[in-house]
Order: sequence, then structure tokens, then C-alpha cells
Amino acid sequence: MSSLTSFTFAETDLDTIATVSGRVVVFVTPDAKLDQAARRANRLTKGAIARLSESERFEKIKSGQVVTLEWPAGMAAEALDIVVLPRNASVQEARKAGAKLGKLKGSRTVQVMAGNMKHAANLALGMALRAYDFDTHKTAEENGEEQPGAVTLCHSRADEIAAEAAPLLAVAEGAHFTRDLVNEPANVLTTTEFAKRLSDLASLGLKVEILEEKDLEKLGMRTLLSVGQGSDSPSKVAVIEWNGGKKGDAPLALVGKGVVFDTGGISLKPAGGMEDMTMDMGGAGVVAGTMKALALRKARANVVGLIGLVENMPSGTATRPGDVVRSMKGDTVEIINTDAEGRLVLCDVMWYAQERFKPAGMIDLATLTGAIIIGLGHENAGVFSNDDAFCNAFLKAAGAEGEGAWRMPLGKAYDEMLKSRIADMKNIGGRPAGSVTAAQFLQRFVQDGVPWIHLDIAGVASVKTDTDFAPKGATGWGVAALNRLVQDRFEGE
Ligand code: BES
Ligand code: MN
Ligand code: ZN
Repeated sequence: MSSLTSFTFAETDLDTIATVSGRVVVFVTPDAKLDQAARRANRLTKGAIARLSESERFEKIKSGQVVTLEWPAGMAAEALDIVVLPRNASVQEARKAGAKLGKLKGSRTVQVMAGNMKHAANLALGMALRAYDFDTHKTAEENGEEQPGAVTLCHSRADEIAAEAAPLLAVAEGAHFTRDLVNEPANVLTTTEFAKRLSDLASLGLKVEILEEKDLEKLGMRTLLSVGQGSDSPSKVAVIEWNGGKKGDAPLALVGKGVVFDTGGISLKPAGGMEDMTMDMGGAGVVAGTMKALALRKARANVVGLIGLVENMPSGTATRPGDVVRSMKGDTVEIINTDAEGRLVLCDVMWYAQERFKPAGMIDLATLTGAIIIGLGHENAGVFSNDDAFCNAFLKAAGAEGEGAWRMPLGKAYDEMLKSRIADMKNIGGRPAGSVTAAQFLQRFVQDGVPWIHLDIAGVASVKTDTDFAPKGATGWGVAALNRLVQDRFEGE
């Protein structure tokens, strides 16, 4: 699976280009300028790079692309990767070029001759993010016992780049943690196993507490418990605290939907594609990955992650359509469709988060509705908020990290669609605007004055094609954006 690639940052030594094994990476600008290392590699290969850069084909190669010479003559390496990249490549350009290298690298060791590249740390981040493969369940023959080869990044200011890369690699490690959780099948990642993996985060200095069913019962979290009551796996709530900020400063609360498998319950989903519902703990996965990243980079902020862990199964003890349950807040919910379970989990955890932590802001993340995929596809998460400034800060952070996010509306008319004949509300609003009525349901559990963002990540948490920074499957969407939001808005001076 994803032991993160190890990175070492070293001063440039051109003589190693001839002698290192594995892959060697050099850079050529789109107008065919070779830097010192590329010139050395060119000399060793008797002009191979110059032949490329002077060829007609070179003009068709887009910036950011990589051309590989396999088994280059004159070098000990098994491959020479030539990256076409301008000297002043932007952060995103550097990341994307790094991702291309991360994809190529496989299990080989890599030496990157980055010269004096400005955004070399972001090149490393791109490599680290893309060098991911979820192969835990492939048996030894295919998989080997291979450890990913280490990367040495040579730079004229190696120490500076190393310092800049450390917090970025923390984000990559957080995103890999998210992906491992989201990719993991539900027979392995039960609620109990999920809680265990969260408890293991304590070794990084995070405070982790697991609330068990009897605790949740005492707190009155009946809507959450109603979702899990058909499953043999016990429902749990995990509370993960990172107190890197000023003592007593109100924390940011991150709340995640952790439905380890969503069959739909008695309102059973159709068979086709149901296997995808192993990713229905995607929101919980992002909260977990973000908390890990914050701890690894020792963020100077107070952040608390709360995760509702349940499995939505049909059985003799499962909730029926038509049942009425009482939330921790005290409001009653008529459950029309047991497949609209995410909101029932979140509403209790959100209420608990506010009662216990009096947060300065609250963000919930959930693979909440299929309707958001109809609306936004796999390019953008749906963003709902009661606070323009908070929302814009998030959108800005997501934009800077290249993570798609698009604001959606809230409004009283949508809220009316949740009226119930016999209880305070229904758990669904009907087919129109399904993502908005889901958000409206959640907003009923946001206390006055609490800035709140709801992120519907059903379309972006896991995808069926490779993306720039991840192979198909779990993406880790959101870890980078939330990390940046914390940095921009909660770490201040
Ligand atoms: N987990 C699903 C939403 C989902 C769908 C996530 C596809 C990822 C991919 C959620 O619990 C659900 O079933 N939502 C229903 C709500 C409906 C019953 C109001 C849906 O979207 O169909
Ligand atoms: Mn569902
Ligand atoms: Zn669900």
C-alpha cells in the first residue's frame, strides 16, 4: 500500500549522474535550454538530449511532459527522464511535472537533478502524491515485497528546499492515509478497524477518544444509532484533537460521515455498482487524513476531528421506513428512506461537536448524495455554507490546491420540502434539488452564530479514471485544501 516514498535533499553533485542506478531526472526548457545537469547527461549519452531538443518532435512536446530514454548509453541508470519545464515553472506546473515522475517511478529509486528550480518542493509533493498504489490485497507474486524506491532530489539550495518540502510531504502522507481508508473494502475496514486505525494516530501526538454505543446512547444520539442498528458492527464516534494553537482558543471542527458500507438499509440499493459504497466513509477519511497532516507538520492551530462510524445494513433490527427517531438536539425525524442515512449520522455528530467544543467554525464532509454527481460530476465537490467569508476562504484554499469546489445554494423554500406530517422533519425532500435538501437538513443542526460549511464529496472522493495526482480509486480530495485553510485562517502570525 502506501508507505510514502522517502525523500532526501542533497547538494548537486554532477558526477553522480553517470554512476547512480535507478532513474535519473533532468530538465530541459520548452525553448530547448539545457541546464548544467542536462548538459552533463547529454555529454554522457553522446548528445541524446540535444538530438531530442533539436528534433521536430520536440516542438510538439508540451511543457510538463516527460520523455524517457531507457537504458541510456554512458550512464549506469536504467532510465533517463527528460522533463520539459520552464525555469520559472509555477507551483501547479511543478506539482504536475512531479506527478508525471511519480507515476513513472514505480518501485525504482530516483535521482532528480533539480538545479536551482524555484518550486522544487512542490515537484516533490507532486511526486509523492502520485506515487501511490493500493496493492495490499494483491498477493506476493504480482506485488513482490517491493518497498518503493527512495527519491534523492539534488538542488543548489538543498537545505532550504528540504525545509519547504517537509510540511508539503506531511500533506501527501495525510492524503495517502485518506486514500488507504477509502480504498479499503468494508470487510476489512469495519467500524472497529476504522476506530483502531484512528487510535493509532495517538503516536503522532493527537488525542484520540472512541465513544462506544453505550456512550452514544447516553448522549441521545438516536439518529446516528438508528443507522447502525441493523449491522453486526457496533456504531462509534471518534473524537480526534490536535491542540497546536493557543490554549483556550476555540477550535475548528471537522465532522466526517463514516458509513463503512451503505447498502441503503431496508430501502435497499440496486445490486449494480453497490460495491462502490465501500467509499461511503470518504468524509471520515478526509477528516482523518487532514488531522494526520496537521499533526505531522505540527500545525499551530486547534482543530478537532469528529467521525461518525456506522454500517448501513438491512436486517431484523434495522430501521424501517416510517420510523420516527429523536436526534441528540431533540428534534424528531421521520425516516422515509433508510438510504438517506448520512445526514442522520452527521446531524448528531455535528450537534455533539458544537455542544462540547463551541467551535470557531465547523466543516462537515460527506459522500452525501448521488444528486451532487448529477449536478457537478467528478470535477467539483458541492460547497454549502451559511457564512460568505468562511466559505470564500475555503474556496480560495481549494482553488490554490487545485481541488475543485463549487458553491451551491441554501434557502428557506428548500427547507420547506423537509416538512413531515407526524415529526419535526422528514429525512428526504424528494427528487428535486436532492443535494440542497440534504444540506438544508444538516443546517437545522447548526447552532446560531456558528460559521459552517458542508462539503458534499460524493463525486470527488473516489473516481474511476486516473487523475493528475492519483491513480483510479480514492483521490484524497480535500486534505490539501483543508490543510491550507487551517494554515491561512487559523494559524495567523
Ligand atoms: N452514500 C449515498 C450517496 C452516494 C451516491 C455517494 C453515489 C457516492 C456515490 C447516500 O447515502 C445515498 O444513498 N443518498 C441517496 C439519498 C436519497 C435516498 C434521498 C441518493 O443520493 O440516492
Ligand atoms: Mn445511502
Ligand atoms: Zn451513504
